[in-house]
Amino acid sequence: MEANLDMQMNKALSVQLNQQGQLKHFLTIDELPRTLLEEILDTADSFIEVGQRSIKKVPLLRGKTVVNLFFEASTRTRTTFELAAKRLSADVINLDISTSATSKGESLSDTLQNLEAMASDMFIVRHAQSGAPHFIASQVCPEVAIINAGDGRHAHPTQAMLDMLTIRQRKQKFEGLVVAIVGDILHSRVARSQIRALRMLGAAEVRIIAPNTLIPCDAESLGVSIYRDMRNGLKDVDVIIMLRLQRERMEGALLPSEGEFFRVYGLDEEKLAYAKPDAIVMHPGPINRGVEIASEVADGPQSVILNQVTNGIAVRMAVMSMAMTGQIAAKSE
Ligand code: NCD
Repeated sequence: MEANLDMQMNKALSVQLNQQGQLKHFLTIDELPRTLLEEILDTADSFIEVGQRSIKKVPLLRGKTVVNLFFEASTRTRTTFELAAKRLSADVINLDISTSATSKGESLSDTLQNLEAMASDMFIVRHAQSGAPHFIASQVCPEVAIINAGDGRHAHPTQAMLDMLTIRQRKQKFEGLVVAIVGDILHSRVARSQIRALRMLGAAEVRIIAPNTLIPCDAESLGVSIYRDMRNGLKDVDVIIMLRLQRERMEGALLPSEGEFFRVYGLDEEKLAYAKPDAIVMHPGPINRGVEIASEVADGPQSVILNQVTNGIAVRMAVMSMAMTGQIAAKSE
């Protein structure tokens, strides 16, 4: 079943690009060329200034309809996508899934085809099922630009790119950087996308630090070094990315207790001191204070957690405008 899904997703990768190699859907970082990742970062850089203006709008998506389709809870990701679309002058609809036709028995495909019939141009999709955005892009609505806003444990590509933008702002380049990703790697779509992006952009080393029960069995094939000891793993790193324990995805007891987890893997000032003195601390949010991160670190001088949120809008503006251009070009191919 899992292997089958992987095969389907790999086949769908080519779906992301049009014949000129432009983005027309943004589903996963996998197999995207480095130049395209850099183009996303450069485009996002140019949108940062828009967010600092008193009139925060550019007309790139004027007359386009963007539908936010969140089949799973989200605050930060959904609102920053909505703000990004509005700053690009698109019309935005947030579909309330709990009261939508899918709760009256309509299939996902039928709901989406109805939205397509209303001349929607872009769907932002978050789904608990890995592969759902690929399925929509390749089978259901290929004419609509699909942006993956997080699918199951598989991928969260815009989160990874906003993290890359934040790292690049602080560290200028990826070459030579040692990055540690700490905590619940097993259930984290964010970690998977970050690892791909960091490796593609040239980071020197990506470490994952976690207890055995939270390390995915394919971790070695991801090209990371694996640490079970937090202090060893943090030694001389440039970037620390903390992850939330994804309780909603855990089956059975993978951990003794949250208190015990914090003692061993929680980032406090004592453990942070093992990293380079100018190391930055990141977290995709939502943060759980006292579970994976201490307040003194989350709110401390090395934390860039709120910069990540601000950068999320610029990165999502970049991805949406690039995918819209690519989708329009694909239609005349
Ligand atoms: C992440 C997610 O939903 O995958 N959060 C986010 O997008 N800001 C990580 C998480 O939920 O822990």
